[in-house]
Amino acid sequence: MRLSSLLLSAGLGLVHLAAAAYDVTACNSSPSLCNVTYNAILHVGAHNSAFVRTAKNSFATGGNQFHNASIQLSAGIRLLQSQIHLEMNEIRLCHTTCSIFDAGLLKDWLIGINAWMRQHQNEVVTLLLVNDGKIPPTRIAEAFVAAGLADLAYVPETGAQWPTLQSMILDKKRLVSFISTSADVKAVPYLLPEFDYIFETDFEVFDPANYTCYATRPSAFKGQALLKDVLATDRMGFMNRFLYRTISETLGLYAANDTYSATLNGDTGVGNLKDGVKKCTSEWGRKGGFVLLDFVDQGDPMKVADAHNNVTKPVNREPFPPNPKTVQENQKQDYAGGTVTLHRLVDRVKKGEPVVAGQWIFAAGKWMGTWKMNGK
Ligand SMILES: *[C@@H]1O[C@H](CO)[C@@H](O)[C@H](O)[C@H]1NC(C)=O
Ligand SMILES: *[C@@H]1O[C@H](CO)[C@@H](O)[C@H](O)[C@H]1NC(C)=O
Ligand SMILES: *[C@@H]1O[C@H](CO)[C@@H](O)[C@H](O)[C@H]1NC(C)=O
Ligand SMILES: *[C@@H]1O[C@H](CO)[C@@H](O)[C@H](O)[C@H]1NC(C)=O
Ligand SMILES: *[C@@H]1O[C@H](CO)[C@@H](O)[C@H](O)[C@H]1NC(C)=O
Repeated sequence: MRLSSLLLSAGLGLVHLAAAAYDVTACNSSPSLCNVTYNAILHVGAHNSAFVRTAKNSFATGGNQFHNASIQLSAGIRLLQSQIHLEMNEIRLCHTTCSIFDAGLLKDWLIGINAWMRQHQNEVVTLLLVNDGKIPPTRIAEAFVAAGLADLAYVPETGAQWPTLQSMILDKKRLVSFISTSADVKAVPYLLPEFDYIFETDFEVFDPANYTCYATRPSAFKGQALLKDVLATDRMGFMNRFLYRTISETLGLYAANDTYSATLNGDTGVGNLKDGVKKCTSEWGRKGGFVLLDFVDQGDPMKVADAHNNVTKPVNREPFPPNPKTVQENQKQDYAGGTVTLHRLVDRVKKGEPVVAGQWIFAAGKWMGTWKMNGK
């Protein structure tokens, strides 16, 4: 899939992937998940989903993703997390402050998610809004209503267990929405208090060897010794698996580490997702939960999650388009020579001759810095 994406990005238009019809027997990409309860599934999440690095914003350091929410969802991401801030009396998606990174109105982002969900009827999606400014839920709900999403929002019954995906889909209540502070379920029943339902691992990790499985939030359960206490509750485990780098220790400036995501989101190397999920879910004695990742198009987090969820043939998914920053970097290179070599390789493929990954990379120049040379 990657290779065909590379070819497309080279403008050869070689590979045309026919879009398969939407499979209505599947729930979140697989019929085998329909009968599984929401909390027994591992949901892959995009950290700061709305903060997208694009050519237009010069791939701003404040961004944590390379593709927008609808592309994330189509690729299989089922948890979208973002920060909300009140600015000039409007709720905007901003990273720390709106002067650092402003991704627009919450309402507009929700409109995009609503459009995607209406087109994809068998998908259960989770939103997590980080509400440090304690915006009242009634204000947040205005955006859900305006976007048309409110009637898809799931409202748990008191004391009830999580339903199966199939039942949420049949009930047309397939959007689970958490807010990190200020929930008031009497006022807005579907904006759920995150920490009544979830415990989170550390989110300030600077070294890929330093991820742990114990809770840092809610603070009542903070620390390794209290892990058993949080596990005695029904809270779902939430693994923060992104990595920071220090820009300036003195100024307290930190940003997403954007050079190591393929390892973090993959299945080998220090801090890889596969080992992390295995470790935490076995320490917790639970199959389900959430992982939250930067740059979800890097590595192959869906492969890790599918294996964990016993999904063997995922359906209703579209792979991520080529990474826009990589595409731009490639365009800057002199790839005329490379293109000639590429055509030669393409001819070989057409004749059915084997071509290994390393040859594509060599031919095309520095397509991907982290590409494994297929044993060569
Ligand atoms: C769904 O789950 C229930 C309860 O675990 C079980 O009885 C039933 O056989 C399952 N149905 C399918 C189609 O797997
Ligand atoms: C996401 O990006 C794609 C590709 O640029 C675009 O077609 C789509 O409309 C965008 N989605 C939203 C919700 O903006
Ligand atoms: C990693 O964890 C160790 C042990 O807790 C700590 O001493 C060290 O400072 C951490 N490294 C970073 C970069 O945070
Ligand atoms: C990202 O983290 C990796 C692993 O610790 C490190 O080797 C790399 O230098 C970091 N990248 C940046 C830009 O700090
Ligand atoms: C996945 O498969 C493993 C091994 O066959 C099994 O132990 C586990 O219960 C399965 N999990 C689910 C959610 O079906």
